[in-house]
Amino acid sequence: MNNPTVRTLIIHTHARDATHAIGAQIGGMVAGGQVLALCGDLGAGKTTLVQGIAAGMGISTRVTSPTFVLVNEYAANGRKLVHIDAYRLAEGTTLADAATLGLADILDEADMDGRNVIAVEWADRIRALFPADLLQIEITAAADEPDGRTLLITATGAQSSAVLAQLSALHACPPGECAS
Ligand SMILES: Nc1ncnc2c1ncn2[C@@H]1O[C@H](COP(=O)(O)OP(=O)(O)OP(=O)(O)O)[C@@H](O)[C@H]1O
Ligand SMILES: [Mg+2]
Repeated sequence: MNNPTVRTLIIHTHARDATHAIGAQIGGMVAGGQVLALCGDLGAGKTTLVQGIAAGMGISTRVTSPTFVLVNEYAANGRKLVHIDAYRLAEGTTLADAATLGLADILDEADMDGRNVIAVEWADRIRALFPADLLQIEITAAADEPDGRTLLITATGAQSSAVLAQLSALHACPPGECAS
């Protein structure tokens, strides 16, 4: 297992582009089967981060928020980014609801189809569906800085922990606080 001690990383960004850049770093690191759960209020920067992840995966298509379609898929270099926005689902969506919507299948396939990277906005709404190996990113707006954001990144499981360890190394900071 890669550096199992690294579990949490906090990164502060001060501009949209910096959050995008963190996404691009993550997109360059993730392997197929990775599931990313993105949380944060309206306008926190979840889609911005996914746009960065797409860029890091080599996807040149413009990534837009799938709020009205629930799921968008983007292919690049033999891999696929599956972008889910659970905003329109009720809090506490059940496994049965999600199965009806096909979401459970998509998340199951993440494991089986080693090409898929799945990023979910408003992940809180479908928490019951996530695999044990998960990279969770919670974005919070700074109270005193319009373009300030804090990314709290938490890994559970070996695959996600490996990504978190790489990200920590890239920011050359000990487990704890990084600024960007
Ligand atoms: N540091 C920052 N990181 C990310 N976005 C920022 C930052 N500073 C300002 N912004 C702005 O905040 C907005 C973030 O929008 P974005 O669509 O990414 O949020 P979201 O969390 O996906 O929202 P929603 O819940 O509506 O889907 C953009 O207008 C972006 O330019
Ligand atoms: Mg969004």
